[in-house]
Amino acid sequence: MAAKQKLELTWIGKEQVTKLEPRILIEDVELSYHASKRFGGDDLFDNKLIFGDNLLALKALEHEYAGRVKCVFIDPPYNTGSAFVHYEDGIEHSLWLSLIRDRLEIIKRLMSDDGSLWITIDDNEAHYLKVLCDEIFGRRNFVANAIWEKADSPRMDVRLFSVRHDHLLVYSKNVNNLKLKRLANDETRVKHYNKIDADGRRYYLKPLRAMGGKGDSRANSPSLYFELTAPDGSKILPIRQDGEDGAWRWSRKKIEEESSRIEWIKTKSGWSVNYRIYLDSSEGRPLETIWFNHEVGSNRTSKTEIKNLQLHSTLFDTPKPESLLARVIDVSTDRGDIVLDSFAGSGTTGAVAHKMGRRWILVELGEHCHTHVIPRLKKVIDGEDSGGVTEAVEWKGGGGFRYYKLAPSLLEKDKWGNWVINREYDANMLAAAVCKHEGFTYRPSDTDWWSHGYSTETDFIYVTTQTLTEDQLLALSEEVGTDRTLLVCCSAYKASAAMLNDKLTNLTVKKVPNALLSKCEWGKDDYSMNIIKLSAADVVDDEDDSTQTAKKKKTAYKEADLFGDAE
Ligand SMILES: C[S@@+](CC[C@H](N)C(=O)[O-])C[C@H]1O[C@@H](n2cnc3c(N)ncnc32)[C@H](O)[C@@H]1O
Repeated sequence: MAAKQKLELTWIGKEQVTKLEPRILIEDVELSYHASKRFGGDDLFDNKLIFGDNLLALKALEHEYAGRVKCVFIDPPYNTGSAFVHYEDGIEHSLWLSLIRDRLEIIKRLMSDDGSLWITIDDNEAHYLKVLCDEIFGRRNFVANAIWEKADSPRMDVRLFSVRHDHLLVYSKNVNNLKLKRLANDETRVKHYNKIDADGRRYYLKPLRAMGGKGDSRANSPSLYFELTAPDGSKILPIRQDGEDGAWRWSRKKIEEESSRIEWIKTKSGWSVNYRIYLDSSEGRPLETIWFNHEVGSNRTSKTEIKNLQLHSTLFDTPKPESLLARVIDVSTDRGDIVLDSFAGSGTTGAVAHKMGRRWILVELGEHCHTHVIPRLKKVIDGEDSGGVTEAVEWKGGGGFRYYKLAPSLLEKDKWGNWVINREYDANMLAAAVCKHEGFTYRPSDTDWWSHGYSTETDFIYVTTQTLTEDQLLALSEEVGTDRTLLVCCSAYKASAAMLNDKLTNLTVKKVPNALLSKCEWGKDDYSMNIIKLSAADVVDDEDDSTQTAKKKKTAYKEADLFGDAE
């Protein structure tokens, strides 16, 4: 019999999985930025802007942030094919899928159990991405495929269809735990509450008789079939349109309790009984799968927003509108929650998250991280960005962020081809990096010189480039004592197996880098182009259509090659 087959999407290179090196992040305080004064009690300063490839950056975040990110919004390169004109179509799509798969797998680990992921994408990859996400997140965790009306008018130069939307794929880590807020009632919705009671409260009426669904018949809901007394004393039963016995929506008890909401109306065919639904007790409207540009902006809106910010002489080509991000962040998070965007672009997600009082983490590998993202965030922090959603969310300024780069690989090859500790690492960096590899939290102790970090309250780590003698190990073991354990990572040690097993029972001794060699791939900085080096992607300049279609234009800020550096 044939082996059991599962339903899956396959592509060239799908089986290639990389063991990534968890790098440490190094802050460049010159580029970090904080408001010069406090604007309120809850200003947030621990936001992170990371310059570098997002695969390594996501891996670097894993130890500290696994299970903590409430909302991930990503707007990755759409893979329009323009970067691959000289190569096979199959490789192009396969490469894109591998690159996004690797990133999504870490993103999933970073998400909190009640977290959600929002991805904008167009028809080039949307449907493949849906299947891929089903595989990573589980089909049951698919939440919606909303469409965002990105263009506000048709493109007249197209042959067949003028594409007017992007997809917004939404996934949850665990759909049972996901809560999305409802949207505030808009004007049309408010008009739906077309009556006003004696106290001036707006409401509309809904028939008390159940209509549609399984419960609308006496047979299915016998306890909800009973007589009510109309204002003129006549007895009324729930009777369906087809003449069959129906059922009320509410029990007799609830009708008595909510009697002030019951409204009788005399019609030509007799009495109809209804209940009031008040606007002020409405929780708003649910999210819908069409996001119109009059509500959340279009590509035109976002380009104007960016233009007005006057960040740089060259405009960033593919921003998203602030209101689009505001809606995503509003429905999926509360103040103080963490929002992550690992394809930061011009930094819209960070700017909006900041204005809305959320913590944020952005990753961007393009030079526009410095020319566009930092100046934009500074304006937000200084309260000098009056555009986008500033007024709607009543943003005044405040808070700050820290700027990080990825550390180089911990190991490098010496002239004989042996892996050794990278010369760029000082003692602190080495200790921090080894902690990360061994799953310890780096926090050098003020009191115990040998403690560089901890994994539990009683388990610690010590990292040194020394060769430790038996006497040194014995002294260390004594200091650690019987209630604690210590992982010692050193260049070499001189102690017999018997000594280690019998006397140094509270120590585990490992040689670095030998013990680390097989843990991951070392010395690799570029995970964006793992098949072939491709030509630079083209960017787009269109007023009203795809942010990423292949319309060639000379510009200083090219869209990065597929997940990589533009050249
Ligand atoms: C479509 S843009 C995002 C635009 C963003 N939503 C905004 O509103 O400005 C995609 C961004 O992803 C970045 N990118 C592509 N590959 C990357 C990678 N491997 N690591 C980090 N950033 C990457 C590109 O440089 C580009 O800025």
